[in-house]
Amino acid sequence: MATVPHDRPGEQAEDVVVVEGLHKSFGQLEVLSGIDGRIRKGEVVCVIGPSGSGKSTLLRCVNMLEEPTAGRITVTGEEVTDPDCDLDAVRKGVGMVFQQFNLFPHLTALQNCTIAQKSVLGRSEKEARDVAQANLDKVGLGDRGHSYPAQLSGGQQQRVAIARALSMDPQLMLFDEPTSALDPELVGDVLSVMRRLAAEGMTMMVVTHEMAFARDVADRVLFMDGGVIVEEGPPSEVIGNPAHERTRTFLQRVLDPTHVDAGTEDAAHAERHRSGA
Ligand SMILES: Nc1ncnc2c1ncn2[C@@H]1O[C@H](COP(=O)(O)OP(=O)(O)OP(=O)(O)O)[C@@H](O)[C@H]1O
Ligand SMILES: [Mg+2]
Repeated sequence: MATVPHDRPGEQAEDVVVVEGLHKSFGQLEVLSGIDGRIRKGEVVCVIGPSGSGKSTLLRCVNMLEEPTAGRITVTGEEVTDPDCDLDAVRKGVGMVFQQFNLFPHLTALQNCTIAQKSVLGRSEKEARDVAQANLDKVGLGDRGHSYPAQLSGGQQQRVAIARALSMDPQLMLFDEPTSALDPELVGDVLSVMRRLAAEGMTMMVVTHEMAFARDVADRVLFMDGGVIVEEGPPSEVIGNPAHERTRTFLQRVLDPTHVDAGTEDAAHAERHRSGA
């Protein structure tokens, strides 16, 4: 495992992600307006905030799926914003799970979990299958390895997506609203897999609207609004006793849906997710 060079003040070997002065614009629209933060090894950081606040963009910048306009990001000791960085090498160590499961439809669950192990990590078929099976067992789908995605429920597909990411032995897992496209009755199984991962010490950055999950599992919660981190701290503070009015307003809306004003972006967001769009 690469170590973080100790040539910068405040940077610790334990930091898996370090973000400094991150800005991101799409054309004239500034979506991230100066983000600083770090995630330490074994930490679970949940990112909450209204629709359009920049949560997904932040997550995507960490994996350089979006190129920052300014700022510096270090992931597992490598500066991914350095033009000379070998991004493919860094990404090998970062698992990403999206709202949409993005499984290969023509491959079985087991094959979905072995393909990158073989092509990216160079593992043999046998080793890849053993690792994949262990991870399917872990997400409670050990007996569904031969099923195709279309034969699985959304929650099962998402658990295969998690098993696939875990099969690469990631040092960091990024989740972007992994349960938002699921029917409510399927959310619990996915969240319990994530809870278990967190309990095992996986370093996780989770964009979520699941406040109960954030409250119970996060070591730290970041509340974003308008492209900045408005406040951050342990869930007991940010969710339990928020310091900022903007945080309180947001939490009122998500914790008590009757507060959702049908005209707001959040209502549209919730509706989009319900319809699976
Ligand atoms: N590729 C893009 N091109 C142009 N604008 C973009 C692009 N991606 C995101 N945006 C804009 O950036 C802003 C932040 O988007 P982002 O997806 O990061 O928000 P979010 O907090 O994840 O919202 P949600 O809760 O709806 O997922 C939005 O105004 C969005 O329209
Ligand atoms: Mg998003």
